[in-house]
Amino acid sequence: MQKLLTWIDDRFPLTKMFEEHLSKYYAPKNFNFWYFFGSLALLVLVIQIVSGIFLTMHYKPDGATAFASVEYIMRDVPYGWLIRYMHSTGATAFFVVVYLHMFRGLMYGSYKQPRELIWLFGMLIYLVLMAEAFMGYLLPWGQMSYWGAQVIISLFGALPIIGEPLTLWIRGDFVVSDATLNRFFALHVVALPIVLLGLVVAHILALHEVGSNNPDGVEIKKNKDPVTHIPLDGIPFHPYYTVKDILGVAVFLIFFCTVLFFMPEGGGYMLEYANFIPSDPLKTPLHIAPVWYFTPFYAILRAVPDKLAGVMAMGAAIVVLFLLPWLDRCKVKSIRYRGNIFKYNLAAFVVAFIALGWLGMQQPTVLLTYMSQFFTLVYFGFFVVLYVTSKNEQTKPVPERVTQ
Ligand code: HEM
Repeated sequence: MQKLLTWIDDRFPLTKMFEEHLSKYYAPKNFNFWYFFGSLALLVLVIQIVSGIFLTMHYKPDGATAFASVEYIMRDVPYGWLIRYMHSTGATAFFVVVYLHMFRGLMYGSYKQPRELIWLFGMLIYLVLMAEAFMGYLLPWGQMSYWGAQVIISLFGALPIIGEPLTLWIRGDFVVSDATLNRFFALHVVALPIVLLGLVVAHILALHEVGSNNPDGVEIKKNKDPVTHIPLDGIPFHPYYTVKDILGVAVFLIFFCTVLFFMPEGGGYMLEYANFIPSDPLKTPLHIAPVWYFTPFYAILRAVPDKLAGVMAMGAAIVVLFLLPWLDRCKVKSIRYRGNIFKYNLAAFVVAFIALGWLGMQQPTVLLTYMSQFFTLVYFGFFVVLYVTSKNEQTKPVPERVTQ
């Protein structure tokens, strides 16, 4: 084995990469629960790619046969139901994991200097993930696939001048049609996954360049052993965190399999009931709502009465997240040592995000629209308050070393 390894190492940096990214990558020793979600996101990415490849073997990206090919997978392909439900449950799991992963970043200020690029790559991943999920949802060619795509693509029509030609260009037709299905399939199975994988590599390379943050927000590279130059508060990622992450994976899989085997439709929140009816361009469903992970932004869109302004507010809700590293001017990273204003502000943001998510699923009424408007203000208010108050925030002293 050693000879084989030397043979490979002379030709390819296998041991070097293993050491650089695993056995000699020193991660802070105080990682907590919130640090499971990066590796879990990687796991879900693999689940999606593998189950997606098997789905593609039986799926037909054709307006006349797409719906039936999914039913064929569900009923006739051996374990086809399992593969399909793995993929649809995986989509929801991806967003659950990524939202928790992002929230950890907010709590511990992981987006701050020197980790701005990790955050920006993360935000690009998030954007691509949303596009990936949106396009994937068209493929079963059910009523919700069809009308969801129709509604979302038509939003681009609100843009001045380029709006109409742009929607035509995206759809490849005057309505969502076979042409749309075909190109969404190409983008969903080839183009976007490649971009996603590239971004994930960039995300992790950027992380390993500067090193991980931690729940104390202390830079472990500032306290190194004078002889070995190893951070005093660091432990090798492998074996310590590879083993710890296996625990996270086991617990995650319990939840994942429970949903997968016992509630794969997620009460209509993961696979909407209307999507078990074949798409019909002549019959608009009474209530069109996107899947839960898009609904906070959908609620912001509907909160604004003007279509163009609504589209812009929805876009701004995402763009503003990109700017976070520069909006938060506080030197202290972790919520543990930050002031009360930040804590309440973050709590309000979380409540607003969840409330908007719920509101985006409901049929709009006057009261609910007022509520959406209120929570949209709270959502944007988070960033305004953060920018204004973070510069001179009353913080607690940050310890020299991690506290655990
Ligand atoms: C496919 C999606 C993603 C994958 C596979 C992924 C993977 C990872 C991994 C493995 C880590 C290191 C382990 C950890 O700190 O938990 C990490 C760290 C990080 N990720 Fe992601 N990530 C994804 C999406 C995102 C998104 C959407 C954001 C935010 C917009 C983000 C922001 C961060 C930040 C700021 C860190 C550094 C955390 C720290 O050191 O405290 N990631 N990511």
